[in-house]
Amino acid sequence: MRIDVVSIFPTIFDALEVSLLGKARQSGLLDVHIHDLRDYTHDRHRTVDDTPYGGGAGMVMKPEPWGEALDDVTRDAEASPVIVFPSPAGERFTQKIARELSTEQHLVFGCGRYEGIDERVFDYAAGLGRVRLLSLGDYVLNGGEVAVMAMVEAIGRLIPGVVGNPESLVEESHEDGLLEYPSFTKPASWRGREVPPVLLSGNHGAVAAWRREQQFERTRQRRPDLLPD
Ligand code: ADE
Repeated sequence: MRIDVVSIFPTIFDALEVSLLGKARQSGLLDVHIHDLRDYTHDRHRTVDDTPYGGGAGMVMKPEPWGEALDDVTRDAEASPVIVFPSPAGERFTQKIARELSTEQHLVFGCGRYEGIDERVFDYAAGLGRVRLLSLGDYVLNGGEVAVMAMVEAIGRLIPGVVGNPESLVEESHEDGLLEYPSFTKPASWRGREVPPVLLSGNHGAVAAWRREQQFERTRQRRPDLLPD
């Protein structure tokens, strides 16, 4: 999969070099390109923002550098890319969307800052690819960078070969609509706390039933919104 990220803070994405995704980049499963939006400006101050028409607080990202950056990163696209703009005003990013996006050949992420990007950029981008505005959750970050880091990790680990043991992807929170069951390792007794005896029983059926029950119990307690009415 090819991933292009456009941002005014490109060094934030240095962190993608480490861990699992770093390995996926080295092995060629992930081809990630980070672009500095200011490289698409033409003035001495490399200006990317301006005051909003109609007044109001804050600054808005100018359309011109975005137009040039999006032209550049979609120029040699073989297939129509998905162009993601992280935004608190977007559709909620979920495991389902991560799965969908993990099957794409080319993803482009445009990181907004300040009060947002000039609205015409989204319309223009729709002529270059399939645009999605995605929100990490109902809170506001200073910009899209941290959201893109989270999305790239959630998507990247679903690409076949990125996570060593594919079974570990199946039994985790949100894959079956429930929260994950609790996990324990040795020692069986630690600081007066015991591992649930069923896990030491060797009875695979009983273990599976206990884990399922735990999944429902946790989901009921912590995330009742995930359960059907
Ligand atoms: N940018 C600012 N806040 C955000 C959020 N909650 N999700 C995605 N992108 C954002």
